[in-house]
Amino acid sequence: MAFNIKINGKTHSVDVDGDTPVLWVLRDVLGMTGTKFGCGRALCGACTIHIDGKPARSCITSIDSLGDSQITTIEALGATPVGAKVQKAWVDREVPQCGYCQSGQIMSAAALLAANPHPTDSDIDDAMSGNICRCGTYVRIREAIKQAAQSNE
Ligand code: FES
Ligand code: FES
Repeated sequence: MAFNIKINGKTHSVDVDGDTPVLWVLRDVLGMTGTKFGCGRALCGACTIHIDGKPARSCITSIDSLGDSQITTIEALGATPVGAKVQKAWVDREVPQCGYCQSGQIMSAAALLAANPHPTDSDIDDAMSGNICRCGTYVRIREAIKQAAQSNE
């Protein structure tokens, strides 16, 4: 079945089954591999994208549920003001270790700061709790979110 999906400001036409997860479409059909496959069951956050600005797990989001929604992926996040601040903070704080979880972490952090420019520790915990990092970079992630938030002042 043909779908027109809006990703990073462009419309892409794809021909897949309606229950195909968006993650599969991004990676396997469109070759956009910045969004990672971790668990495939909404348990790790590696596949986080934005749908109409809100964080979503692309591994459990079927393409036929998107409608006219606008998707943003890690490939274009830096073009947004908050995305650029988050990515700068990630570099400044040298957050990644192996890096595998980090695009999902950054997408969740950017969605948090877009909705709440000055999050408390509790807000950060709530927003980031679904993003797992097997390398344990949580302390640096928190520092980077706080740096990005300070740059909003
Ligand atoms: S791959 Fe989607 S949450 Fe783990
Ligand atoms: S940096 Fe390795 S899993 Fe997070």
